[in-house]
Amino acid sequence: MKTMGSHHYNRHPERGDCVIKLGFELGVACAATQVEGGELDHSWNDWYHKGHIKDGSDPARANDHYHLWEEDYGLMRDMGIRQYRLGIEWARIEPSEGVFEEKELERYHAMLLRLREYGIRPLVTLHHFTNPMWFERKGAFTKIDNLPIFLRFVEKVVRYFGDACCEYLTINEPNVYAMGGYYGGQWPPGEASFWRTQQVISVLAACHAKAYELIHKLREEAGFTDTRVGFAHHARVFAPKNPWNPWHQVATRLSAYLFQGTVLRAFALGQYRWPLKNLLKLPGKRLVDFHALNYYARSTVSGLGDGVREVCPKNDLGWEIYPQGIAACGREMERLLSLPLYVTENGTCDNQDAFRCRYLYDHLTALQSSGLPVERYYHWCFCDNFEWLEGESARFGLVHVDYATQKRTIKKSGQFFSEMAKAGAITPEMEARYVKGEEYHG
Ligand code: BGC
Repeated sequence: MKTMGSHHYNRHPERGDCVIKLGFELGVACAATQVEGGELDHSWNDWYHKGHIKDGSDPARANDHYHLWEEDYGLMRDMGIRQYRLGIEWARIEPSEGVFEEKELERYHAMLLRLREYGIRPLVTLHHFTNPMWFERKGAFTKIDNLPIFLRFVEKVVRYFGDACCEYLTINEPNVYAMGGYYGGQWPPGEASFWRTQQVISVLAACHAKAYELIHKLREEAGFTDTRVGFAHHARVFAPKNPWNPWHQVATRLSAYLFQGTVLRAFALGQYRWPLKNLLKLPGKRLVDFHALNYYARSTVSGLGDGVREVCPKNDLGWEIYPQGIAACGREMERLLSLPLYVTENGTCDNQDAFRCRYLYDHLTALQSSGLPVERYYHWCFCDNFEWLEGESARFGLVHVDYATQKRTIKKSGQFFSEMAKAGAITPEMEARYVKGEEYHG
């Protein structure tokens, strides 16, 4: 252990001057709404027009990736990135109910082909927080009757993409989507009900189960054998504020159970525990081909709600930086079901790029030494982008974006990431150049 400011971090002194071989591939992740831009009739544009984005920034601007994707893919290729998790925008593909825009599907298809030409493997997220407004008005995922609407979209996309993409995430972070929109009320549609939240998670679990089967069936019929399907699970470490306080202990266990325990079991295994419901009475079985973990932080619990301890390393949004948590959450998934692990998101809000290299180093080495069957790590995110409620004010990217000019500039952390991606390893020289001297603030 070495002291750094008031915080400690693991420097793996036992490795001495060794090269750290990662043993998994490095990639980057994005979501369509956060990068593409465009005035579309969807829930987040609507939320913006209702005045909810804290810094007033408009998702219609974002990174203008819709027009600049070729430049962005070129940059990824040059940075040595070989894995890319991308989103597609449902409201673009199906702007009104049952009407599919062939030209938008064609455009996404062309993007997938370009990625493959560049040697970058795509992993497509079918749903990442945003709904077309016509779907929102029908009650979105609060109603099991809306399941066929989602499946029709999935079928259209998977058929169209054919062999251009063989790996899918059905739904991104069902717990975060449901809590944000139906429990906390800060996200669209702004509701605040515990039971409604549980209903939404139950409907999403049914959607995932059916989509998992459908994608396999469609691709099998088309003669493809390399299909892999999962869902992106947002997991945290929950710890009691006062470990000796029995109420804090109970609240910790309850938070972990409700926020991620029940969710993982329902989505990965089709096993529904209270308060979730098996709305379609589906038989339990494995419903993921790999674990997809989105990990950011540790929560400190003293009641119901999310807390952060007073003294700890924090990012620019005040989230605790807790690198060991990435392995702890991976282990939890592995305990439920032994499968290859993809970290499908991990990253931090660091507006000055002052500690992202350290953050990367700490999380990657925690994973590397975890003994878990990690196959890939997708950093969140490639470019600074539209960060939901925070708008453009929270920067998570390896590449800086000047939103006014849309100029992209690789950050120091982006250079570090690129070198690691190319080498598949961290050398002592890289560590000295990028990591040494970077400190978290507390
Ligand atoms: C989401 C991303 C988001 C990131 C950082 C995740 O919960 O999937 O869309 O940008 O966290 O807040």
